Amino acid sequence: MKIAILPGDGIGPEIVAQAVKVLNVLGEKFELESAPVGGAGYAAHGHPLPEATLALAKAADAVLFGAVGDYQYDNLERALRPEQAILGLRKQLGLFANLRPAILYPQLANASTLKPEVVSGLDILIIRELTGDIYFGQPRGVRECPDGAFKGQREGFDTMRYAEGEIRRIAHVAFQAAQKRDKRLTSVDKANVLETFQFWRDIVTDVHKEYPDVALEHMYVDNAAMQLVRAPKKFDVLVTGNMFGDILSDQASMLTGSIGMLPSASLDANNKGLYEPSHGSAPDIAGKGIANPLATILSAAMMLRFSLNKAEQADRIEAAVQTVLSQGLRTGDIYEAGTTKVGTEEMGNAVVKALG
Ligand code: IPM
Ligand code: MG
Repeated sequence: MKIAILPGDGIGPEIVAQAVKVLNVLGEKFELESAPVGGAGYAAHGHPLPEATLALAKAADAVLFGAVGDYQYDNLERALRPEQAILGLRKQLGLFANLRPAILYPQLANASTLKPEVVSGLDILIIRELTGDIYFGQPRGVRECPDGAFKGQREGFDTMRYAEGEIRRIAHVAFQAAQKRDKRLTSVDKANVLETFQFWRDIVTDVHKEYPDVALEHMYVDNAAMQLVRAPKKFDVLVTGNMFGDILSDQASMLTGSIGMLPSASLDANNKGLYEPSHGSAPDIAGKGIANPLATILSAAMMLRFSLNKAEQADRIEAAVQTVLSQGLRTGDIYEAGTTKVGTEEMGNAVVKALG
């Protein structure tokens, strides 16, 4: 089993190193190969997604990804910006299904900014379509405004679009995920305003016929944003497009109080996937040894479960994370009085130790 390790920028290398440590003590034969990506890719090869890095990712059975982005790359032209690496990997590897769980660990019940009764026991799954929508729709750019009150001025524009097959395949992923959970699916759209998302609603409704055991509800994205903070536990699985999913998944992650705990999986049609923490590269704390490695370690667990068919190893890692939390170990982002503050390395070592 070959795993491509793409640490990236900022805290990426520190947190990925902890996940690699964990993978190496499982007693499995993994072939791990690293390559630069994001700003590190640009620095090494002049491109955020160097050809050799893309080739490695394509050849591997799974990709473990850290995070990309750093201040010194902020003023590069768009095509060379670190974010293009993750967008390019998603598109080129066909990773259309993004699974972002938001789970509140009982040990961290006080970490949320919401009242404990609103969030305790929270366990929801956001499924975000990841290779379509306004993120990738053509045409896009800056042009001369062709009509209306601002005719003749410059205007920026993007294209929101979804093909039927694109909606069908993400709907199938979502219904099947719901079948394995509480059998409730909320499809989030903006059908009251956007043609693209009326079409989305129609297709999801049609796919539902194949999953009569799942309860489907449709919800407008603005209402979904409200319900996510009002009564988040009412949700089980949410499915939505790329843009709405980007926003709602950040919002959902903060219900748990700490984005530093949340893993994610981006899967293709054959369950090959890229696994990354839901948080970013946090350049402000990079190199200080204080970042929380648990989201990346939990991403490695998701990788074992979804792409490498090693569910029992995934269970072991998840149990080890619970153990270190129960021991009271906390990185700064989840620290509270009465617990023990540890750094990135110490946290990684504690997980390794808990694995026995
Ligand atoms: C995410 C990030 C990316 C996105 C950026 C870095 C391009 O925000 O994974 O949610 O918008 O998809
Ligand atoms: Mg985002």
